[in-house]
Amino acid sequence: MTMDGLEGVVVAETRLSDVDGERGRLVIRGHDVEALAERADFEAACALLWTGELPSTAAHADVRRALGEARVRVFARLPSLGGALDAADGMEALRGALAQLRASEIPEPALRVELTAAVAVFASAWARKRRGLAPAAPDAALGHAADYLRMASPHGSDPARSRALDAYLVTAADHGMSASTFTARVVASTDSDTVSAVVAALGALKGPRHGGAPGPVLAMLDAIGEPDDAASWIARELEAGRRIMGMGHRVYRVRDPRAAVLERAVERLRATGLRSDRLDLARAVERVAVASLGERRPERRMAANVEFYTAVLLDAIGLPQEVFSPTFAVARVAGWLAHIDEQRESSRIIRPSSRYVGPLPETHAAA
Ligand code: COA
Repeated sequence: MTMDGLEGVVVAETRLSDVDGERGRLVIRGHDVEALAERADFEAACALLWTGELPSTAAHADVRRALGEARVRVFARLPSLGGALDAADGMEALRGALAQLRASEIPEPALRVELTAAVAVFASAWARKRRGLAPAAPDAALGHAADYLRMASPHGSDPARSRALDAYLVTAADHGMSASTFTARVVASTDSDTVSAVVAALGALKGPRHGGAPGPVLAMLDAIGEPDDAASWIARELEAGRRIMGMGHRVYRVRDPRAAVLERAVERLRATGLRSDRLDLARAVERVAVASLGERRPERRMAANVEFYTAVLLDAIGLPQEVFSPTFAVARVAGWLAHIDEQRESSRIIRPSSRYVGPLPETHAAA
């Protein structure tokens, strides 16, 4: 079955973000992603997405305080989550934990902050559980990125690595009508509750064609090992009919602008003295992958997507590979929540139609 002709169908009007796949441009509420990542931290990106304005210093402090207090409240819920965080997969753990929040217990604007805090607290508690450790209590005085890194990474946090994580969280906070965002909007359009919409979106994010790619990108870099081995490794993968993770995109026909933002953030980290051998390897692998894919599929114009350098950045700041996808959710939940609110402004259900290509009942077929 083919879906040709259905790509690019407009399913909503949005003021939140716009992806220009031909020019490689991402605009988030009036700001180019490159500029936004330079000037905003995660709290500022949340304020921008949720209110339409970058926050004043006082408003920024309010968001930071609200998120910090919410992390502490959510942390107190951990003992009541049962076995949700025992799941071997971080996204399954997050799904099970988030599903236990009740939208009816928390009024709407506060629920936004609570859910954003919950993703970070649950993801970091799961990361520690995987290492046989008890969850680390949040520090409400810290920024969201620094506190998440402190709780989730075996190496704790420091200002340079927290800034790099902020760059990632801002860059990944929203991206047009991605599969998970569309899922969130579909659920919201039925007038269902916000927790249900976020849990459904998380299910869409989990897949390797969406948010599940950065872990496999790191595994690929490890398997390649040396820049000189990239060409033969990639040729073997393509020969075997497998996809090169971190390459290609449904919308971008050029390099994903977010890849450049994250590549720059790792470069800056290196300038602070952090070792990241993987950056040079990743650049070499990217060059080879783009050339190989270009030779084989010149008509598709595949280039590096955000996940390629997400893997390098999250690894450089000390997050283990299994926490990569949950960390994507830590960022993207901010965008989902903005889209859920925006979708609610319309009272129309999203109900696309399908083209029936199955058999007809015999009586009709004969007629
Ligand atoms: N490596 C090799 N081949 C690829 C490829 C990749 N990364 N991405 C797409 N292709 C090929 C497919 O095999 C397919 O070949 P076919 O026509 O012979 O069946 C063709 O290109 C079209 O694939 P399709 O899935 O329809 O393209 P798309 O543009 O809709 O796909 C992605 C977008 C992101 C799902 C796809 O590029 C992909 O799977 N990338 C790897 C996973 C990844 O990095 N995901 C993160 C996205 S941000």
